[in-house]
Parts: sequence; structure tokens; C-alpha cells
Amino acid sequence: MIGVLVSGNGSNLQALIDAGLPVSAVASNRKDAYALVRARAAGIPTATFSLDCHADREERDLVMATWLEEHGVEFVALAGYMHLLTGPFLRRFPDRIVNVHPSLLPAFPGAHAIADALAAGVGTTGVTVHRVDDGVDTGPVLAQTEVPVEPRETLVERIHAAEHILLPEVVRALCAVAR
Ligand code: GRF
Repeated sequence: MIGVLVSGNGSNLQALIDAGLPVSAVASNRKDAYALVRARAAGIPTATFSLDCHADREERDLVMATWLEEHGVEFVALAGYMHLLTGPFLRRFPDRIVNVHPSLLPAFPGAHAIADALAAGVGTTGVTVHRVDDGVDTGPVLAQTEVPVEPRETLVERIHAAEHILLPEVVRALCAVAR
């Protein structure tokens, strides 16, 4: 069973659901994330773990990990989740957490990867799925798709389209191996 962490629109969550992957729980750090609406529409249990409601990030992450385990989660996908995970969470799902990022890591880590690639004037950027550690987009790369920058008017859409193919592919392969 897969748990998905989200903070925003949730188009990557939707891609996982539409691919028929067994998503059993969706957790967010923001109660207004549209991703939660998508999860509920698919009948998937949701919960919000806001930092405001916990003493610190470690405690929040522990409570979130326990909730995911209670929902049968063995594998975690970060799909637009905009917080770093702390050691207590990472140790609960060792080597079983992946993230999707809109650049060819290690180029352009962080929250503004598409804008940073445009500002740097590269001809090719892309999408990365990587294992998650406690750094900002630093875990080992599992798979990448190149996306040409031009035509730049449609770059954001083409990056997202590539994410919606690559993330479900990698999650499906990892879950098959874990069986
Ligand atoms: C994606 O571009 C993902 O790579 C990045 O945040 C965005 C989330 O989009 N980490 P969505 O919420 O899945 O639509």
C-alpha cells in the first residue's frame, strides 16, 4: 500500500490514482491543499498534519508516520510535498520514500526549479524521481526524463506531463520489487 504526501494541487497524486496504484492514505501539511479534494473524491482517507498543531517537526513527522502505518502504508511517495522530512519519519520507511522533482537533479534543487532552469538559460531540463533523504532534493536519483526548454511558453505543462508518466512508472516498479 502506498501513502502519498502532498501540499498543493495534487496532479501527481491524481496520476498515481489514475494509474491504478494502491494509494491507501494521503497526508498533507496544509488543510487547504486541493490534493485532499482529489483524494476524497477517490475515496482515499486523508489527514492534515500542520506544524501549528505539534511541538516541533520531529513530533509532527512521528504522528504522521504512525497514521500512515495505521492505513497499511509500506511505501511513501512525495507528490508536491513542500516540507523536509525529519529522521524519525525517514527511519520508519527506510529506502521506501521517493519524491518527484521538476528538474534534472542535481541541477536546480529547491522550490523554484523550473524558474531557475529558465534563468540559467539551459536548453534542456526535465524531471527526476529520487529517493528521499534529509536534504533538499539530494537523495539518489532513480529515474529521469529530459524535457527541452523550448517552446518555453509550454515548458511548465510539458514538465508536469513528464512527471505524470515518470512518477507512476517508478512507483509501480519499486512496489513490484518490494513484493
Ligand atoms: C511538481 O512539479 C513536483 O515536481 C514538485 O511540486 C509540483 C507538485 O505539483 N515537487 P502537484 O501538486 O502534483 O500538481
